Amino acid sequence: MIISIVVAAGEDNAIGANNDLLWKLPQDMRFFKNLTWGMPVVMGRKTFESMGSKPLPGRTNIVISTTLEMHPGVHLASNMEHALSVAADTDCKEVFVIGGGQIYADVLDRADCIYMTRVHGVFPHADTFFPDIDQRVFSCDATRSVPADERHAHAFTFETWKRI
Ligand SMILES: NC(=O)c1ccc[n+]([C@@H]2O[C@H](COP(=O)([O-])OP(=O)(O)OC[C@H]3O[C@@H](n4cnc5c(N)ncnc54)[C@H](OP(=O)(O)O)[C@@H]3O)[C@@H](O)[C@H]2O)c1
Repeated sequence: MIISIVVAAGEDNAIGANNDLLWKLPQDMRFFKNLTWGMPVVMGRKTFESMGSKPLPGRTNIVISTTLEMHPGVHLASNMEHALSVAADTDCKEVFVIGGGQIYADVLDRADCIYMTRVHGVFPHADTFFPDIDQRVFSCDATRSVPADERHAHAFTFETWKRI
């Protein structure tokens, strides 16, 4: 099973503040939905709560937590190992780890692929960050840039990083 990370991060790796995202980028949301649809997604308890404690439709939702009670439409996992084994039980060929900061840091060493949306801005009030990508370990093999427009306050670039 391929382990993929999906993340949107600012130039300084900022990913969130006050348990919320730092931007609204409809085209990135659409990319995320298309990429993960029908697949298992793994997230931390805080990210799950940041989505109103509602599972993402059309996907197998796996939430890592030591404190969360059972929740309809959600598989609870006690740690990353457990979450990945729940994902593997669905016979999927790929699992998407969708955040947040603690969960990304936990999985980066074993990730095969990183779908990074690099948001071209700096976000001084951010309190959660993606770890640095070690370019001796991952290489960027595809990019697509999207300019800012009336619906997107920031330009951004879709990057695909693969383990070398
Ligand atoms: N830009 C993006 O792409 C993106 C994507 C997702 C999230 N975010 C942002 O990231 C922020 C949330 O990230 P975060 O780092 O604060 O929290 P998080 O990673 O979403 O969740 C942390 C929680 O997950 C559980 N957890 C983490 N590691 C664990 C382990 N090894 N074993 C058991 N449980 C574990 C714990 O839950 P318990 O305390 O219940 O045990 C922990 O409190 C928000 O601002 C959100 O909007 C951004």
